[in-house]
Amino acid sequence: MTTPDPADRVLSRASLAEGDPTRWFDELYTAAARGEAEVPWSRGTPNTDLAAWTPPGEGRRALVVGSALGDDSELLASAGWAVTGFDVAPTAVEAARARFPESAVDYVVADLLKPPGEWHQAFDLVVEIMNIQAMPRDFRPAALRSLAGFLAPGGTLIVSEVAEENFDMATWVSPPWPFSREEVESAAQDGVKLVTLERIRDGARHWAEFTR
Ligand SMILES: C[S@@+](CC[C@H](N)C(=O)[O-])C[C@H]1O[C@@H](n2cnc3c(N)ncnc32)[C@H](O)[C@@H]1O
Repeated sequence: MTTPDPADRVLSRASLAEGDPTRWFDELYTAAARGEAEVPWSRGTPNTDLAAWTPPGEGRRALVVGSALGDDSELLASAGWAVTGFDVAPTAVEAARARFPESAVDYVVADLLKPPGEWHQAFDLVVEIMNIQAMPRDFRPAALRSLAGFLAPGGTLIVSEVAEENFDMATWVSPPWPFSREEVESAAQDGVKLVTLERIRDGARHWAEFTR
């Protein structure tokens, strides 16, 4: 007997087959809210690399891309950042607000591929952890263009994605679509410059810092 595919695989396959790179995220969060699925990236705690890195915010503005259930946004808010967290999945945004009812974070439904114009160069810190890799590669140039566009002069952009170099891509099953080093570097555009790029977690992930 074969084991059925998990909900994220089933939903992403259908959504992607219809040319929609993001519909399945809300479907998955909705199924999870009903107790019918698991969200595989949902840990209930902030990303440990971000927790180790985060400097004091001192009221500066931070943007968390793909804020999911809010853990990374709350981490930054507790370090003194004025945080906007956004996600394309309305159910994730509702769930984050419900988990943290007293939160100072502004949780917003928005699409990285069509971001609000007022976010242009508006953030001193932009955090992108494993969201762009969750969309097919065709969407990567537009997503990276949006990302670079959020960063204010003198700010910091963090990009962390699964490192293609660490895995056998011939047998890899997407999503996600891991990043090569060169693809991470390509976030440096439109006046944004790479500061550091390293491999963390025994080489399994890229961690890059950029500035403008
Ligand atoms: C793989 S999860 C990663 C979540 C979180 N950043 C983490 O590290 O655990 C990807 C998240 O990005 C969101 N997402 C995917 N595509 C997006 C887009 N185009 N715009 C905004 N959010 C997006 C999904 O709904 C999901 O919450």
